[in-house]
Amino acid sequence: MSGIKTINDIISRAEHTHCLEKENIITLLSDEEGDELVFAAADRVGKKYVGNEVHLRGLIEFSNICKQNCLYCGLRRDNRNVKRYRLDPEAIIASAGQANSYGYRTVVLQSGEDDSFDLDTMVYIIHKIKELDMAITLSIGEKPREVYQKYREAGADRYLLRIETTDRELYERLDPGMSWDNRARCLCDLKELGFELGTGCLIGLPGQTIASLADDILFFKKMDADMIGVGPFIANKETPLGKEPNGTFELSTKVMAITRLLLPDINIPATTAMESLNPDGRVLALQRGANVVMPNVTEGEYRQLYQLYPGKICINDTPAHCHSCITGKIHSIGRTVSQGYGYRQKQAVS
Ligand code: SAM
Ligand code: SF4
Ligand code: FES
Repeated sequence: MSGIKTINDIISRAEHTHCLEKENIITLLSDEEGDELVFAAADRVGKKYVGNEVHLRGLIEFSNICKQNCLYCGLRRDNRNVKRYRLDPEAIIASAGQANSYGYRTVVLQSGEDDSFDLDTMVYIIHKIKELDMAITLSIGEKPREVYQKYREAGADRYLLRIETTDRELYERLDPGMSWDNRARCLCDLKELGFELGTGCLIGLPGQTIASLADDILFFKKMDADMIGVGPFIANKETPLGKEPNGTFELSTKVMAITRLLLPDINIPATTAMESLNPDGRVLALQRGANVVMPNVTEGEYRQLYQLYPGKICINDTPAHCHSCITGKIHSIGRTVSQGYGYRQKQAVS
């Protein structure tokens, strides 16, 4: 126990200077006594810098085929117990059109690392969706810089690539065949190419420490990321980590809340995995510093097949149902739905 006075001092410093030393972050993460104070401070900072509005991004999970083999993920290539699918480009574009009809001004195109979506195909899809006057976020994994550059030139606005963990040794153990340096290289390239940069981490990975979570938060700050998505690791029995304990909702929202204190003007989603562990997860996350939700607009059976982990929410729901569900939840806590594209509004921090 560090004592509530110490906790109060650290939170006050974070709230007013948006800087913390690693030891202070470790103190906040370790001491549950201060949780409600951290959450309340994150809510205040969020309201001050990004306001009351919540940005909705329509999520299209367009392929569950992946050449990578991350030990935690249900889409890993060695998982034979998942029926694989990929949407064709016209179906993806139609899905974006549907997202547009719900008033979503951004689509997030997410998939496994599926090389059949080659550069020309992705550029075609990006061009077509830009004709709908929507912002585009890509979340399709590691690519060479030249490929990112072409996506950017075609009109893609944002890119989500979680670093997953800044513990290099842990990353390379859990993501066999992948290199932490290459992941970090991707993030630097994306930033330099002018994408809004999204990254983030998993919480509760087997072997992860509180100190490494503190490093993750400091890494987000160093990168000056524009979006940070964090979520609990949820064990999937079809993976080698199937018997490991899940990460927790409370620690996930605490990492998120401290991230809000240190990066006050960025976009932070209330993530699907949070609500998969807690039925009120996204609403609580919105009250602990988040300001974005990514409702699923994937159609039909494909939602069920994009099974990263068990208990994923919305897998039996339609895009229309998710739209009314999430807007209802947002209004129920006195927040409003943004009508804009939801770009980061960089602000002088005070
Ligand atoms: N393939 C791309 C990539 O890895 O960046 C994008 C899709 S991947 C499914 C999106 C995110 O899902 C990953 O960054 C990872 O953090 C998350 N994820 C995968 N397996 C998970 C699990 N078992 N529990 C929680 N999140 C998981
Ligand atoms: Fe593939 Fe991404 Fe899953 Fe890793 S996390 S197996 S790269 S879909
Ligand atoms: Fe999909 Fe609530 S957002 S059912």
